Amino acid sequence: MDFKRKDILGLQDLSAEEIELILDTAEPMKEILGRELKKVPTLRGHSVVTLFYEPSTRTRTSFELAAKYLGADTASIAVATSSVQKGESLRDTAKTIEMMGIDVIIIRHAAAGAPHLLSRYVKARVINAGDGAHEHPTQALLDMFTIREKKGRLSGLKVAILGDIAHSRVARSNIWGLTKMGAEVRVIGPPTLMPPDIHKMGARVFYRWEDGLKDVDVINVLRIQLERQQKGLFPSIREYTRLYGLDEEKLRCAKPDVLVLHPGPVNRGIEISPEVQDGPHAVINEQVKNGVAVRMALLYLLMGRGEEDVLTA
Ligand code: CP
Repeated sequence: MDFKRKDILGLQDLSAEEIELILDTAEPMKEILGRELKKVPTLRGHSVVTLFYEPSTRTRTSFELAAKYLGADTASIAVATSSVQKGESLRDTAKTIEMMGIDVIIIRHAAAGAPHLLSRYVKARVINAGDGAHEHPTQALLDMFTIREKKGRLSGLKVAILGDIAHSRVARSNIWGLTKMGAEVRVIGPPTLMPPDIHKMGARVFYRWEDGLKDVDVINVLRIQLERQQKGLFPSIREYTRLYGLDEEKLRCAKPDVLVLHPGPVNRGIEISPEVQDGPHAVINEQVKNGVAVRMALLYLLMGRGEEDVLTA
């Protein structure tokens, strides 16, 4: 199957076949990451820019490394020290970058829909690295890659997403992706952090961990967005941790071989206890490594085969 998309804007738009192709393509990319010399010339002559209006450690760095490992040139726009501070619009910033010969723009923005808007303004390919509370497709793809790698499949698994569902783009992309791939998705959190229509996306809604975590194969723990605490959406951090923080007692409710994921950054000891974060069920560090492989796969699929094809070399 050929990948015919210009952009990667969200998992809502992608078919199960396209998602499978991305995950399959990430496998040889991960093999490259295990080599002593990680660089291949597949995307030599192509160029990638990261344009992040919000902070990031994992997503931005892994995209930059993914592009470099495939031989592409990279540039990074630090919005805090760019002409955005002088009032330049997103459209003008993007057009300026494009005129420098960029092939792919990877954007993170606080406004939902910003990557979609950008994709209409520029001929360059656009990858959504997180837009508001809307989608974070590359995070969900690396989560699915990690689950599939460990469990051998996605179809038929019970996957719980635990925490602040309302403000989470990671939750939305995971729900779109996992349901398309045949998993049962449960969302667990306090009513104040649960969007009213979330069941329409195909997720089962639970407010009590005792019900939601029962016999699940995977738990994806979300970062509690401490900035929301100002808005009184839960009584206190301590209360949140008691009711929804993943600890060893709650973990016992799931299947004995449950996998624990977290997209990072982690509020250690708040949404997940240190014993679980550092324990045998957690695959949080592997998610980071798989993030590079999945982003290499996306750049490869979007920019096409180069003169030396990593999949046939
Ligand atoms: N998971 C994630 O998006 O992390 P960063 O904010 O560090 O990119």
